[in-house]
Amino acid sequence: MTEQEPAPGEVVRLATTVNGRPYEEVVDSRLTLADFLRGRLRLTGTHLGCEHGVCGACTVLLDGAAVRSCLMLAVQAEGHAVETVESLAPDGELNPLQEAFSARHAVQCGFCTSGFLMSATEALRAGPVRTEEEARDVLSGNICRCTGYAGMVRALLDVSGVDGE
Ligand code: FES
Ligand code: FES
Repeated sequence: MTEQEPAPGEVVRLATTVNGRPYEEVVDSRLTLADFLRGRLRLTGTHLGCEHGVCGACTVLLDGAAVRSCLMLAVQAEGHAVETVESLAPDGELNPLQEAFSARHAVQCGFCTSGFLMSATEALRAGPVRTEEEARDVLSGNICRCTGYAGMVRALLDVSGVDGE
């Protein structure tokens, strides 16, 4: 451990931005980013499945990059900008990606959905998804246990303006 890193269990100050809003909080150095978002900020759209980096349900964006919030400590968000699924529909209006998920029946229980949406958001900001193979690659870091992936693939192609079926 370096001198700058807080000791385990130490209470530390955290200044971060979540969904465009600045926060200054005092947190336990062991608190995960997922638990900070869900428990402290009540942003419960970020879900916890495996809690060890496998399922992707906890995916959020950190400075625009998709990360597993179950594997990150809240203090690692110091000075960074976090985006959660709530940021996609700030006024309760679904964004085009969410609309496409709905139209393509890409949601069943919905437990995995916020993670898929954030992974897809990162990819779509870099440019459209042009092929089914590309769409499957974008979705490959997340796991859905009930609805399957075909609707999600079509949703990504829809928002990319690719004529699916
Ligand atoms: S809960 Fe984080 S990857 Fe599964
Ligand atoms: S919709 Fe149920 S786990 Fe994906």
